[in-house]
Amino acid sequence: MKSHIPILSSLFSYDVIIGEGLLSSSETLKKYVTPLSSCFAIITDSVVGPLYAEQLAEILHSLGFVAKIFTFPSGEKFKTRETKELLEDQMLESGFGSDSCVIALGGGVVSDVAGFLASTYSRGIPWIIIPTSLLSMVDASIGGKCGVNTPFGKNLVGSVYHPKAVLMDLNMLLTLPILEYKMGIVEMIKHGLIAQEEYFSFFEKNVKKLLQKEREPLEEAIYKSVYIKALIVQKEEKEKGIRNLLNFGHTIGHALETVTRNHLSHGLAVAMGIIAEGYIATRCASLSVESLERIIRIFIEYELDIFGTHSYSLKEIIQVMKYDKKSKSQVPQFVMIDKIGKSLAFEGNYCTPVDNGIISNALEWMFAKLENEALL
Ligand SMILES: NC(=O)c1ccc[n+]([C@@H]2O[C@H](COP(=O)([O-])OP(=O)(O)OC[C@H]3O[C@@H](n4cnc5c(N)ncnc54)[C@H](O)[C@@H]3O)[C@@H](O)[C@H]2O)c1
Ligand SMILES: [Zn+2]
Repeated sequence: MKSHIPILSSLFSYDVIIGEGLLSSSETLKKYVTPLSSCFAIITDSVVGPLYAEQLAEILHSLGFVAKIFTFPSGEKFKTRETKELLEDQMLESGFGSDSCVIALGGGVVSDVAGFLASTYSRGIPWIIIPTSLLSMVDASIGGKCGVNTPFGKNLVGSVYHPKAVLMDLNMLLTLPILEYKMGIVEMIKHGLIAQEEYFSFFEKNVKKLLQKEREPLEEAIYKSVYIKALIVQKEEKEKGIRNLLNFGHTIGHALETVTRNHLSHGLAVAMGIIAEGYIATRCASLSVESLERIIRIFIEYELDIFGTHSYSLKEIIQVMKYDKKSKSQVPQFVMIDKIGKSLAFEGNYCTPVDNGIISNALEWMFAKLENEALL
């Protein structure tokens, strides 16, 4: 194991470890996991479980610990209260008590369910995350938010409950399908856009290597993203609302997910959202047209499947945005970037209201641009 990022605040502290070979030696587990309990519930999904869970359980058994695997079907549609309840009943039936520890082994769906479960099981037991998707490494594992979806919307029931450690193994990304991998890349590019121009350029310079999951640049990029997200999450305690910056591209992104009834994946919706919100920033902040072109170019380079014709109703998208979590009195709010790597705060507010006319122009412009680029 190599890089190490401490996450500290007055309320919580834990380490994020980025390395390789987590399952080929017991060293990291002995340092971060086994001191927490003698009884481990490994929560995983039906895709990740068969790949890695048995190996993890075997190491823990060989060290003399109890470890049992609890699996639920892979996919967002299983991020529900029912899944949490089923897992809880299985753990109770197996005799897991208040002295046990949860290990979330999987992508963001697994960590969201497992963290929420850990926060309420026996009124709260410790948990560890072993994130296996790129998105869960750079996004879902950092910040302590966990929860489940309901028929009324996504992530509506949950808690903020920090893990005791986050252990990342780059080798696990080798089995991650490339389309899932690119969902993580979008959020990482977003980190560059809101916080550091140099990091954004890193993605421009290393397209081929990153698409091939080359170890060194990938480790560097994961480190940078975790660092940026952790910094923002830690600042939230003193600078209320700063966490909204992580929502760049998401006001429009979430609305696109809703109107397509999630046929458009989160990552692609956010990439389109970043382009449209980038356009808004050229009108309402001082983002240059050249910078907006750079943003579009990077999504072309990473071969995101967003270029082509989309026929969604602008009216419906704008209607849905009224219910965005950042909206105030149903007026949608947007994170603004002034230039690549620099987001704006307006008098302590990290997002700002925008006229429906400008939002409409942004959507029209973005859809036309995606169509034109596909023709070139
Ligand atoms: N809590 C937070 O702060 C936060 C932040 C961002 C996203 N999220 C949540 O995270 C979820 C999305 O996470 P995700 O993109 O990881 O989705 P996911 O957990 O569904 O994983 C994507 C797919 O990849 C598979 N997979 C994961 N790792 C693999 C590996 N190493 N090899 C092969 N297959 C692998 C999974 O089984 C799944 O089929 C959403 O529910 C979202 O709401 C939470
Ligand atoms: Zn996102």
